[in-house]
Amino acid sequence: MSVQQNAKKILVTGGAGYIGSHTCLLLLEAGFDVVVVDNLSNSSLESLRRVEKLTEKFIRFYKVDVTDQKALNAVFVDHEFEAVVHFAGLKAVGESSQIPLTYYEQNVHGSVTLIKVMQAHNLKRIVFSSSATVYGDPASVPIKEDFPTSATNPYGRTKLFVEEILRDQAVADNEWQIVLLRYFNPVGAHISGQIGEHPQGIPNNLMPYISQVAVGQREFLSVFGNDYSTPDGTGVRDYIHVVDLSDAHVKAIQKIASFAGVTTLNLGTGNGYSVLDMVKAFEQGSGKNVPYKLVERRPGDIAECWADPSYAGVILGWEAKKGLDEMIEDTWRWQSNNPNGFNK
Ligand code: NAD
Ligand code: WQD
Repeated sequence: MSVQQNAKKILVTGGAGYIGSHTCLLLLEAGFDVVVVDNLSNSSLESLRRVEKLTEKFIRFYKVDVTDQKALNAVFVDHEFEAVVHFAGLKAVGESSQIPLTYYEQNVHGSVTLIKVMQAHNLKRIVFSSSATVYGDPASVPIKEDFPTSATNPYGRTKLFVEEILRDQAVADNEWQIVLLRYFNPVGAHISGQIGEHPQGIPNNLMPYISQVAVGQREFLSVFGNDYSTPDGTGVRDYIHVVDLSDAHVKAIQKIASFAGVTTLNLGTGNGYSVLDMVKAFEQGSGKNVPYKLVERRPGDIAECWADPSYAGVILGWEAKKGLDEMIEDTWRWQSNNPNGFNK
């Protein structure tokens, strides 16, 4: 396994997770050296071992919590980084209402700690994982970056707060170069079927739930509401392939040195699909039945959410290339090859 000599080194927090592991793979393929910090609270080191096998490149890993300033500082003493991609954090919307302080501690305090350590080491380039959730219930679709922001749950508030904290930092010190990436609905897996999403317990999100029904681990999907003002009454979202999403991070890292202050970008495809569209497409792509039951709306859900991703095209020269068929084929390959995720 090779270490790339003279390659620019990127710190990836939360790099063992779903989006992080795909981004590490693409960063390595693009010629960057990758160092990962992750506390493994929602992931396993096996994801990074598989990325190493796929790329035949080495990843330096630290089991460190981003709220631990001393441990994080030690990582920065060991390495000189070009930039940071900050994925580390908790992401379950429902759970965030039950244990809000944990979400503020991990997501907000963790981010502040990271920013402090970066500042202390004079590293001022960061790409941050934000979310379309910061648009709350948008007045119209497609959603543009200048739409008003709001939050309807503690998770969403942590994303908004960290965005604001980074904006304040850019005002206080104009050397900061910050990219806020607002993801719509990431799905899919690497084409190898070796890495993918491995939710702990009952999945909160639609795609992993559907794929667990298709593989026979769950009996049926509950469709949360069919009385929305959408074509078939079920919720419409902008599903984006995780490899397209990761590619945008690589492009952001390649360009970040030329940016000033804060750059905010939507990462979506610009297409909306309903829950029932997703069920039908998954049945076609997998050849399996996906039984479902119509149930009450899930509190806090909105009818429609899809992006205008054109600004990311202008700024990064990026667009999502993979359509729904690939999202489903790749999810299914990962799910059927690894019914227990990264567990043996
Ligand atoms: P994930 O849970 O798979 O990855 C997050 C990683 O961060 C995990 O490996 C976890 O162990 C690690 N982590 C959590 N808290 C940590 C801490 N305090 N210190 C160090 N490591 C820690 O989630 P993901 O889907 O890959 O999401 C990555 C980021 O993208 C998150 O910030 C999430 O909020 C954001 N995001 C995700 C989605 C989505 O639907 N998946 C959508 C929008 C934004
Ligand atoms: C999609 C659609 C549900 C599950 C969430 C977060 C958002 C971002 C992405 C992190 C909706 C319906 C779902 C199920 C269903 N994450 N659904 N049955 O809610 O758009 O976004 O994940 O930042 O912040 O809120 O994604 O996948 O949960 O739901 O009918 O079992 O599927 O009602 O219409 P969502 P989702």
